[in-house]
Amino acid sequence: MSSSKIVLVTGATAGIGRMSALHLARQGHHVIATGRKLEELTKLAAEAAAEHLRVDTLPLDVTSDDSIRAAVAAVDKLTANHGLDVLVNNAGFGVLGPTSDITDAEMRRQYETNVFGLMAVTRAFLPRMRDRRAGRIVNVSSVGGRMTLPFFGVYNSTKYAVESLSDALRYELRAFGVDVVLIEPGVIRTNFESTAVSNLEQFKGSVYGPSMLKVDDLSKKLDRFASEPIVIARAIAKAVRVRRPAARYVAPRSTYFILVLQAVLPTSMWDWSMRKMGFLTPHALQVDTRAPSQLPAAAPGS
Ligand SMILES: NC(=O)c1ccc[n+]([C@@H]2O[C@H](COP(=O)([O-])OP(=O)(O)OC[C@H]3O[C@@H](n4cnc5c(N)ncnc54)[C@H](OP(=O)(O)O)[C@@H]3O)[C@@H](O)[C@H]2O)c1
Repeated sequence: MSSSKIVLVTGATAGIGRMSALHLARQGHHVIATGRKLEELTKLAAEAAAEHLRVDTLPLDVTSDDSIRAAVAAVDKLTANHGLDVLVNNAGFGVLGPTSDITDAEMRRQYETNVFGLMAVTRAFLPRMRDRRAGRIVNVSSVGGRMTLPFFGVYNSTKYAVESLSDALRYELRAFGVDVVLIEPGVIRTNFESTAVSNLEQFKGSVYGPSMLKVDDLSKKLDRFASEPIVIARAIAKAVRVRRPAARYVAPRSTYFILVLQAVLPTSMWDWSMRKMGFLTPHALQVDTRAPSQLPAAAPGS
């Protein structure tokens, strides 16, 4: 592959995807920035044009087969049937909710984008890479693809799926000259947080309601420790640039600490800290842990 590559980024209308599209273009790559919000794509194209960057924009909803088909045809046209050198599967989101109470519809929505959408886009752009015996797929996962946080069970499970699918693709595509790389962001300042808490109202009346409100409050406070999207854009650019990429890039590097902590702590201690963090102790949940048969009998007439 030459040093300037044709790179398509999904979910480039905001956050990590938008920053990565611009950063990659500033590094000299031909970027195809895609997303659902056309007005955001227009703004991105204008910003890139002002800097004389090579950025094309295309509509792409990763959950729509028609949209994916149209994007593949448009990329073939833009690249004279060369196809992509690199696909950056970035589009994704997470919604907080008690894992036992979250609806099937909400679970499916997250899986449709984060897992099935990522796989559908990958399958669609892979044939030209495999035929050329060259290409790279960069999947934006999460440290939450290696550890589970309270109330993030569904989102985290989608990223565990992305990790496993990426591992398998890495084994299966190597012989065809296609590398598969995982990017594992920690906490990054984007719209991710506001999307994550967008459904909290729904659980207000549940036994987890008060704890979820406290978690929401905690995550807002933690926002000041969040890193800027450029940190992930740089990790993605490295995954695009280097000749032999690593299987995984954790960014920011400080995030390794939590992964190491999880690895060294006994599960009982890790679970205890997660219960504390999620306000999931009987005290925080105001739960009487005694079985009804152990409760003192109510006084007659009370
Ligand atoms: N921010 C973090 O702390 C963090 C941490 C770990 C991993 N990540 C991962 O990083 C990736 C980017 O997230 P972000 O932090 O940049 O959040 P963000 O600011 O909310 O951006 C998410 C992007 O994904 C797009 N998207 C969502 N559903 C889509 C679909 N069906 N088709 C096409 N695009 C779609 C959004 O477009 P719309 O505006 O149209 O919805 C938006 O452009 C995600 O995969 C996320 O899981 C983020």
